[in-house]
Amino acid sequence: MEIQKVALRREYSYEIVLGREITAALVGKILRLRGSRQCAVLTNETVARWYLQPLVAELRSRGFDTLELVVPDGEAYKTLDTANSLYPRLFAAGLDRRSPFITLGGGVIGDLGGFVAATYKRGLPFVQMPTTVLAMVDASIGGKVGVNTPEGKNLVGAFHQPALVGIDVATLRTLPQAQTANGLVEALKHGAIADAAYFKFITKNVEAWKARNLDLLQRLVRRSVHIKKEIVEADELEQGTRAILNFGHTFGHAFELLGGYSRYQHGEAVGLGMLAALAVARGMGLLKEDYSDALRAFLQEFGLSLTFPAAWTTDDLIAAMVQDKKRRAEALVLVLPVMLGKVELVPIPFAELPRHLAPLRSLAA
Ligand SMILES: NC(=O)c1ccc[n+]([C@@H]2O[C@H](COP(=O)([O-])OP(=O)(O)OC[C@H]3O[C@@H](n4cnc5c(N)ncnc54)[C@H](O)[C@@H]3O)[C@@H](O)[C@H]2O)c1
Ligand SMILES: [Zn+2]
Repeated sequence: MEIQKVALRREYSYEIVLGREITAALVGKILRLRGSRQCAVLTNETVARWYLQPLVAELRSRGFDTLELVVPDGEAYKTLDTANSLYPRLFAAGLDRRSPFITLGGGVIGDLGGFVAATYKRGLPFVQMPTTVLAMVDASIGGKVGVNTPEGKNLVGAFHQPALVGIDVATLRTLPQAQTANGLVEALKHGAIADAAYFKFITKNVEAWKARNLDLLQRLVRRSVHIKKEIVEADELEQGTRAILNFGHTFGHAFELLGGYSRYQHGEAVGLGMLAALAVARGMGLLKEDYSDALRAFLQEFGLSLTFPAAWTTDDLIAAMVQDKKRRAEALVLVLPVMLGKVELVPIPFAELPRHLAPLRSLAA
């Protein structure tokens, strides 16, 4: 078992614990949070099948009165309706402001549960136990929690830092490969923005990822956690530098939106979004090292899309991009690559977008 510490100014610091078969050790740490002996575990029907009972058994054996909350699987349930269905159960069980609220699952469960933990009685100690690569390397770190509304994804939410993050990479044994690929793209993004050697480590070990090699997966999660946590520590509330984590995302969100949120998986859209950012940076003369081929080869290994439909015009893409909640009023700030491990924030006035985004046609098919 290994530990990384996150040091934040706004709230207390917390530990990210990483290892395999670490349930007992984690429950020991939850005990030491010195909350109440009442706790809740939120998961979904899929994850519950393998991982809920061992956790609940361990919690109960250590004296926790444990409320089990199991919701259906899917992004469609990351809503206020689902949250609303949970609050009455917390009240009925008598959870107070010191009761640990544990989320066991992917990013959907972490975001939804984090939102409930942030809002029930103005905040419960929140423990994240991510079970997807994406949630381990991305969603469980940084304190962003929230739900989707008809107006869009993640538009209602909060910053609620966890009290503890417990990452058991052994849970990745059951993760479907398409989901693994989704998370690997976010890890690749960490390499692209902050660590060239890490990017190469990921692209060179395709077979290990496909074989779910837990030693290598643990190395990957360790490095990504470290990169993301350092960026978050420097800019907890996303007022500046943290925006580099959006590399591939302004384009990716546009692809997701135009694809009706069903054509592309999130990681797939981000992979395509990084290719888009590379094309735009190349066109602007910003790109000193072009790693498009390595990225394309990696995405292809996992059957991820390398193109978007030619019917989507540059104007369609621009309209979708400026809808993104991270835009500024007069210009769109793009995260553009310079070389492996380095990106820049580049504000582009709206009027100049058509010209600078023209190179995206190279990804249309
Ligand atoms: N808060 C943040 O900073 C942040 C960052 C990135 C993404 N997100 C959010 O995360 C969500 C996506 O997360 P995700 O990709 O983990 O999706 P997810 O939570 O839907 O999980 C993907 C699928 O894998 C299943 N699953 C989870 N763990 C498993 C396991 N160990 N074995 C077998 N199956 C398992 C789930 O049931 C689900 O069907 C989105 O809602 C996104 O908005 C949040
Ligand atoms: Zn993402």
